[in-house]
Amino acid sequence: MLFTRRSLLTVAAGGFTAAGLGVPMAWAVDLPKLKKKDKYKVGFAQTESNNPWRLAQTASMKDEAAKRGWQLVYTDAAGSAAKQVSDVRSMIAQKVDVILLAPREEKPLVPAVMEAKQAGIPVYCIDRSVDASLAKPGRDYVAFIGSDFVKEGKMAGEAFAKIVGGNAKIIELQGTIGSSPANDRMKGFKDAIAAFPGMTIIASQSGDFARDKGRQVFETLYQAHPEATAVYGHNDEMTMGAIAAMEAAGKMPGKDLMLVSIDGTKDAAQAVADGKIAVLVECNPHFGPKAFDSIVNYGNGDSVAPMLVNTDRLFTKENIASYMPEAF
Ligand code: AHR
Repeated sequence: MLFTRRSLLTVAAGGFTAAGLGVPMAWAVDLPKLKKKDKYKVGFAQTESNNPWRLAQTASMKDEAAKRGWQLVYTDAAGSAAKQVSDVRSMIAQKVDVILLAPREEKPLVPAVMEAKQAGIPVYCIDRSVDASLAKPGRDYVAFIGSDFVKEGKMAGEAFAKIVGGNAKIIELQGTIGSSPANDRMKGFKDAIAAFPGMTIIASQSGDFARDKGRQVFETLYQAHPEATAVYGHNDEMTMGAIAAMEAAGKMPGKDLMLVSIDGTKDAAQAVADGKIAVLVECNPHFGPKAFDSIVNYGNGDSVAPMLVNTDRLFTKENIASYMPEAF
């Protein structure tokens, strides 16, 4: 069937979906504009609130809204992609001006982005992205603002390989399955250690970015692989869970097993200072100022780059002291 632009718009309005994903074909509709206002009503759809990174991210959004006197409609999906989709639908119904979405997983949140687009509400993907083959920044949503997770994984792998002299049998604690940080941090790390034949991932499983789950998964994997010499945690909470499990088993983190982690929480920064974590890659959660500035620019009609990428730093025992006051 040959689609003209008009027929595509009709199909989109009629609710046809693509690829069986329930994704409205809103890609045929233009990216919504934002009317210039002094104060905006902004929706922030958070993924979950079970770790310091998420709490710091939410605080940054709330502080920025309060500073500017803007209304913030805040939702917490409590770790459910389905709830996050309905949170976004509720924001559409409440006619927010803009939606800041921290998508829990790459695919299930695509319909939410497309429905907001069809409703004429500009969306930003904050910190995590959605599946780029189904929804693109600059076309379906205004922009992605966040870290380059592949680069984070790569930085972690390269620095860690140096510290362990190119030799490690690694247990990997993956983040939430289907999320962009889990996918990309896995890829970046794997790519980095590929240059070191002595570095192997001997077991890999999701701890869902949560401390207790990370502890449980590490315990199980370490029992099955007592030959492990290292742990790569996709975030600090899971890494701290692994440290707790090691200590409970009478093992010394930083000696019996080496650790590499990503985020920059207070606990992890302290663990670096204490010699328990060898390498810590930052993932900055303070999105408020950047996101709200970008909304102002977009409302003013200025062009907004579709990818606004944070620069993340690398910490080891040598330089962690300078970071301690910033840790969250
Ligand atoms: O998307 C960023 C990741 O999600 C952070 O590393 C993690 O702590 C959070 O839950």
